[in-house]
Amino acid sequence: MSITVIVGAQWGDEGKGKLIDVFAKHADTIVRYQGGSNAGHTLVVKGKKTVLHLVPSGILHYDKTCVITSSVVIDIFGLLNEIKNLKDSGVVITASQLLISDRATVLLPYHKSIDLAREIALSNSSEQKIGTTGKGIGPAYEDRASRQALIMSDLFDDKNLYKKLQYGLKEKNFLLKNLYNMPEINIDDLYQQILSVIDDLRIFRKADTSLYISEKLKEGKRILFEGAQGTLLDIHHGTYPYVTSSSTLAGAGSVSAGIGPQYLSKIVGVFKAYCTRVGSGPFPTELNNAIGEKIQSEGFEFGSTTGRSRRCGWLDLVALKYAIRLNGINSLAIMKIDVLSCLDELSICTAYKIGNKIIHDFPTDTNDLLNVEPILEKFSGWKTDLTAVRTVADLPKKVTDYIHFIQKYLDCPVDIISVGPDREQTVWVKPLYKD
Ligand code: GDP
Ligand code: IMO
Ligand code: MG
Repeated sequence: MSITVIVGAQWGDEGKGKLIDVFAKHADTIVRYQGGSNAGHTLVVKGKKTVLHLVPSGILHYDKTCVITSSVVIDIFGLLNEIKNLKDSGVVITASQLLISDRATVLLPYHKSIDLAREIALSNSSEQKIGTTGKGIGPAYEDRASRQALIMSDLFDDKNLYKKLQYGLKEKNFLLKNLYNMPEINIDDLYQQILSVIDDLRIFRKADTSLYISEKLKEGKRILFEGAQGTLLDIHHGTYPYVTSSSTLAGAGSVSAGIGPQYLSKIVGVFKAYCTRVGSGPFPTELNNAIGEKIQSEGFEFGSTTGRSRRCGWLDLVALKYAIRLNGINSLAIMKIDVLSCLDELSICTAYKIGNKIIHDFPTDTNDLLNVEPILEKFSGWKTDLTAVRTVADLPKKVTDYIHFIQKYLDCPVDIISVGPDREQTVWVKPLYKD
């Protein structure tokens, strides 16, 4: 009876999708527990690329069950579009393969309108915009907290659906019209639009996903929890306000799924061999130079959801140590180490300097974080193609030295080394399961 959580240990896009697809082979149930279609999780199988936003990353394994639990905000039209696109590419999702909690929040077009309107308003002011994905995430979570949101079960309550929609829309139309000077949303059009997709959604309806997961646990099945975004984008512990609107930490999985925290036994922290960030906010090791550009082009660092270019920088162990503490990470997966093969010399950040002070712990004050200077340790590059390596023994010594340094500093084992985007391009330092 155990749950493995795969959690992003940086600012998102660490390669969680790839790793979940790899782990899913050994699991029974894959649970997406937070975020919404702001996520873009990329899976590559025999060269074929699939990008998922709301559908859990276990979906390419036809014999597994994927579950979306209560803390996810579901863009219902986006989800159905994603399912249709998957079908067009040959991946047909059956009712037994995808279960959606009745308690998940429904994200509707007015959430996106407010999200976009706010970002435009921030751009036109002296404030820095957040650089959101524009997927309506913040406004949808706000609605849940203020109890104005529709939840999935409301969609199937035909008697009250219109009334609930009216209530949800009231403040939004006021804001759109009077504050943001944007077109209002017509309730009747939206109502009809929702009615037209209810039956397509109904087939994936699962009233109580907590009960389902707990039964699987009792049967001794392996459950995989899929994190979205990353630790430093967490609403409470991230680089606020430059964060997303959900709790992205491993512990949030327990709350969302409605399963006691004692079952979360293995917490895998996924990190890139360097760092990236999309959107605004502090980034201590950012490289605004030719090296940053080289990492960006070699690593193809462009957003899977918005196509925006990702800011790139050196691996930051101060931030990673913070992520280990917040999530209780007890196993690490280093991704995209192959990308660093293009560099003659590499650096890793081991501390920050702020004024005359050297600090080793991630500052909680975002202003401090904006002013820190990274203290870097240099390593010589290995300049060897790693993409065909499948065992630790075949890795060049310079690569293993680089990984040993990280492991020692963090006092946490690096159990997986990813050397390319494909499922097969994975090196297991330690076997995943003993049996
Ligand atoms: P996620 O949001 O954490 O799932 O990550 P994304 O899918 O947004 O971004 C990770 C990108 O890196 C995707 O394009 C992956 O296909 C790719 N990727 C994952 N692992 C590796 C790796 O080890 N090497 C290389 N070169 N690419 C990788
Ligand atoms: P995955 O799951 C990287 C970032 C946005 C922005 C901030 C807030 O693919 O790792 P939001 O739309 O959530 O209100 O935007 O969070 N962001 C991500 N960055 N990967 C993601 O997801 C992200 N989801 C949101 O760029 O800075
Ligand atoms: Mg992504």
